Amino acid sequence: MNFKAILLAICLLLTRAYAQAPATDETWWKHAVLYEIYPRSYQDSNGDGIGDLNGITARLDYLKSLGVDAIWISPMYPSPQVDFGYDISNYEAVDPQYGSLKDFDRLVAEGKKRNVRVVLDMVLNHTSDKHQWFIDAASSSTNPHHDWYVWSDGKPGSGPEAHEGRVPPNNWVSLFGGSAWEWVPAVHQFYYHKFYKQQPDLNWRNPAVEEAMFNTMRFWLDRDVAGFRLDAIPTLFEDKQLRDERSLGGTNAQGDPNLDDSLTSNLPEVHDVIRRMRAMVSSYPGDRVLIGETYLPNTAELDKWYGGAKKDELNLPMDMLLGFSNKLDAGAFRKLIDEADTQLHGSQPLFVFDNHDNIRSIDRYGDGVHNQQILKQLAVILLTTRSTALMYQGEELGMVTATPTRVEDVKDPIGITGWPKEKGRDGERTPMQWDASNLQAGFSTNPHTWLPVPANYTTINVMAEAKDPGSQLNWYKQLIRMRRELPALRNGGLAMLDTANPSVLSYVRTPSDGSPAVVVSLNMSGTPQTLSFDLRSTGIKDKTAKTLLTDAPELSNVHSLHSITLPPFASWVGSVQYAAP
Ligand code: GLC
Ligand code: CA
Repeated sequence: MNFKAILLAICLLLTRAYAQAPATDETWWKHAVLYEIYPRSYQDSNGDGIGDLNGITARLDYLKSLGVDAIWISPMYPSPQVDFGYDISNYEAVDPQYGSLKDFDRLVAEGKKRNVRVVLDMVLNHTSDKHQWFIDAASSSTNPHHDWYVWSDGKPGSGPEAHEGRVPPNNWVSLFGGSAWEWVPAVHQFYYHKFYKQQPDLNWRNPAVEEAMFNTMRFWLDRDVAGFRLDAIPTLFEDKQLRDERSLGGTNAQGDPNLDDSLTSNLPEVHDVIRRMRAMVSSYPGDRVLIGETYLPNTAELDKWYGGAKKDELNLPMDMLLGFSNKLDAGAFRKLIDEADTQLHGSQPLFVFDNHDNIRSIDRYGDGVHNQQILKQLAVILLTTRSTALMYQGEELGMVTATPTRVEDVKDPIGITGWPKEKGRDGERTPMQWDASNLQAGFSTNPHTWLPVPANYTTINVMAEAKDPGSQLNWYKQLIRMRRELPALRNGGLAMLDTANPSVLSYVRTPSDGSPAVVVSLNMSGTPQTLSFDLRSTGIKDKTAKTLLTDAPELSNVHSLHSITLPPFASWVGSVQYAAP
């Protein structure tokens, strides 16, 4: 055989190996714990009061000890930082505030040594207005980049919004306040922006935009990223005819009319792009993952983002229905978990309770009295259902929302324009609390951190919680370990139990390998609840049980499923032997 023939044979073998790669069942992200890092606020390594990539690298051992499989890093590309990185001026570099490409490569390499993969945030809907493409586009309507953005001549009109006798073409509003249209005198046109006016929307009807953005994704795939979290992905397309959106009545926190956003979000055209993107990303080895920021109205819409029965779109569109329902309600949780289990054509659900855009879950679901127990219940749901788990930094500590109390302290622009109704997102973006040291909780040597460290850092921090067996941190660690080690939690089916109970959420995970089943029971009410489980419908006759994890001392020695009394807001996770035949 000559050299070429040998090479060909190797190539064929390799293609075959990929073609025969185990089905999704063993795909890494199916069992993963994903962890969002807001790089500004994780760890400052150079004393400027702003977190950075080398800071993340320095904390990889912590992430590994927690049991994290992959980190998603919010945008760390060059940016004017109007929207703290979500306004990107160069997609193929690192903002000097956060480090360099070399630092990035080192983070990926060090992560690999610890089996911690790196997923990047990809902002495809818009660029910064300081991106060269937009600077070109806004300079002249004959510039080749002009049609890369969404422009309109507007319509004849007068009033405060009028320019040269023209007003915006329709009633669309920016999610961040005001008209979604901004006038550019040089081209005598308005451009469209779903978010800040410094974030002009790209025109995805122009194939050159898709080509350019796919190329930037390739740039990072070639640098070995494990996949992408696609920012605001349902917003890529707008109604071609620019028709008015229907008014829903009333106004939002920014004082704008509430509109049904059906002409600026979740348009069917987006799915063609996602299918091509999936094909492109799948051509890389190593099960790269496509995660979507998908706020959608219901499970049927969510299913479309997987590609429905074809499953040829996103691997993990986020299920925001459960984690942002904002009410501790056993019945509602049961329904949503069950829907994700049964109405997604068998695709893998991705639950999430926290991110950098929302008040922390402990405050949204907490009743102000039992918040610690309630957060523990959310962690149980996140880590013991069939879902891939997505966490946000500080969630594992029970960090609370630290919303600014004075408008002059606000950094997030929507908090400035919307004050006091909308106070912005600073509260969930405060620095990670590592220890009780007076060096800004271990976050930075600089006393002037970009957002202040909340005063509760002396007790809510990694170092203190690591030593406390009852802490949130140890709760999350134990759940993650169980999820990894127990076949029932790794691969077992899920069946809801006691389904008419309005106060207690209970379910069983049933492995197919004969190892013990796992029963989960969460009392979401303020009164004790006595339960007796009958698992016969799942093929389990025995009632012998053993406690695996609980935050109620009186439940630490449960022996039978016959009669279990859960104190208010208690969690109980137990294993159940299958009866001998
Ligand atoms: C997403 C991000 C948010 C950002 C917006 C615009 O919702 O999570 O932080 O402001 O997109 O990019
Ligand atoms: Ca820094």
